[in-house]
Amino acid sequence: MNHPETLFDAVMYPLEAVSLNRKRRRLIPRAWGDVLEIGAGTGVNLRYYDPTSIRSLLLTDLSTGDRLRERAAAFQRRAGLPGDAVTVRDADAMKLPVPDGAFDTVVMTLVFCSVPDQHAGFAEVKRVLRPGGQLLFIEHVRPHSAVRHLVDQLNPLWFRLTRECNINRDTAAAMHASGFFFDEITVSGRGFLIHGVAR
Ligand SMILES: C[S@@+](CC[C@H](N)C(=O)[O-])C[C@H]1O[C@@H](n2cnc3c(N)ncnc32)[C@H](O)[C@@H]1O
Repeated sequence: MNHPETLFDAVMYPLEAVSLNRKRRRLIPRAWGDVLEIGAGTGVNLRYYDPTSIRSLLLTDLSTGDRLRERAAAFQRRAGLPGDAVTVRDADAMKLPVPDGAFDTVVMTLVFCSVPDQHAGFAEVKRVLRPGGQLLFIEHVRPHSAVRHLVDQLNPLWFRLTRECNINRDTAAAMHASGFFFDEITVSGRGFLIHGVAR
């Protein structure tokens, strides 16, 4: 990831405590089968996976770090999965180094705000999902309320500060335009957050 790992976890802590961890706790245990997580960051989702539902887990990020590797190893031991069932790999969401139809579940949380070409990213997600597979997502998005114009104005500054994050992405529309249908989608955080399941 782009930022020091300890700093990222510290900055995210209040958001996790207020809202995100509840969403992760409900959503992430629904991952099953062969699972790919895109933009896994420091591995925050690892504590929420249900090991009894998982055959294999590939954790990817644009640049993976030690904290993700340590948490992945701890998860593999706790889950009692074979050593090669939990792997960590550098990968761009827009060019996933995996074969077509290799996964039952793809997980992305707070990632597609940073992927430069969302359509290219979602085309990859579609390519690697098996028929009947699912995409579990939590993403912050451009709200549809009156503040959206202010958000648009703030975005260039925010992008410069974070070096990767956009606060004005209409990620649900990009998913839909890429051929995904929503089994479930919940909008929360005054329209700034979406989470759910798409196919
Ligand atoms: C805000 S962090 C979220 C990390 C984690 N998913 C979470 O929920 O806490 C965004 C992550 O997406 C990764 N990322 C950004 N652009 C990416 C890309 N094009 N492909 C894959 N990962 C990317 C970053 O490196 C970073 O780790």
